[in-house]
Amino acid sequence: MTVSSEAFLSQLTAVAADTESLIDRLLAAPAIEGERARPQRLLDAMRYASLNGGKRFRPFLVVATAALFDVPRKRALMVGAALECVHCYSLVHDDLPAMDDDDLRRGHPTAHKAFDEATAILAGDGLLTFAFDILARPDAHPDPAVRIELLLALARASGLGGMVGGQMLDLTAEGRFADGRPQAFDEAAVTTLQAMKTGALLRFACVAGGILGQATGAERESLERYGSAVGQAFQIADDLLDITGDSATLGKAIGKDAEAGKATLVGVLGPEQAKERLKTLVAEAEAALAPFGAAAGALMEGAKFVAERKA
Ligand code: IPE
Ligand code: IPE
Ligand code: MG
Ligand code: MG
Ligand code: MG
Repeated sequence: MTVSSEAFLSQLTAVAADTESLIDRLLAAPAIEGERARPQRLLDAMRYASLNGGKRFRPFLVVATAALFDVPRKRALMVGAALECVHCYSLVHDDLPAMDDDDLRRGHPTAHKAFDEATAILAGDGLLTFAFDILARPDAHPDPAVRIELLLALARASGLGGMVGGQMLDLTAEGRFADGRPQAFDEAAVTTLQAMKTGALLRFACVAGGILGQATGAERESLERYGSAVGQAFQIADDLLDITGDSATLGKAIGKDAEAGKATLVGVLGPEQAKERLKTLVAEAEAALAPFGAAAGALMEGAKFVAERKA
């Protein structure tokens, strides 16, 4: 039995709604033990950046991979919410004038436009830190050893050798720290850059399900393979959408990557070969899930969604 794309979409929609209300609830709580105050402007900006928008595809991956091991949905949603906070922070900083300089995100003015740059920087910092606050709570998993494993994995996926490192490579490729001209990043270099800036968080989303479910080594390896393929596919699709997408549907500007001199696989391979690569990656993602059989139907559809999405 396979899961139809409608069934996948309804699962994605349900996870998105549950993630939205969970982040809302977590950020609505009054100051907790050890906190003197919660500055309202900072809280408003953190809420602005994390609520009301986004596909919530990363939380979907956490929930769907955790479901393979019968993990209670509430725990997976906590981990998904933590990951989404890191993702939202990465978008706030990615959009800053010093980085990609974007005015539109998820169909609304970017955080630094709606507030100001300093507040947007701090809101990003606040969301990043809040992610680890969420993950360290017993609601994420009653066993502290499991929580530490999750914390370590998310920290590694987010930082120097993960998303942040990838963002550094992304800006380096633009030639910002050299002569201002785009650097020659070959296919291998772009693949590394993208595996870090985008792939690391998506891979974490999949591995997290296995950590929560205390999966075997072989099961975790399958999830990692799936997550890596989906991560690569996700950024190739994003880069294709920058060329052929519709700004209103995407909720963000298009046509900026080439102008900025971004290193992308679409740039290295050309759009046609990049589309072929997407197909190969979807097949790789599906193959990685074979050991889970029909239970992984939603995740298989998820890989197709990544490649075919319009937003
Ligand atoms: C956009 O991520 C940034 C990339 C890593 C390409 P998404 O396409 O998941 O953005 P939202 O969360 O749905 O807005
Ligand atoms: C974003 O890549 C990766 C992040 C870590 C945020 P992009 O810069 O291509 O994402 P968009 O196109 O602004 O969403
Ligand atoms: Mg960027
Ligand atoms: Mg950007
Ligand atoms: Mg992009």
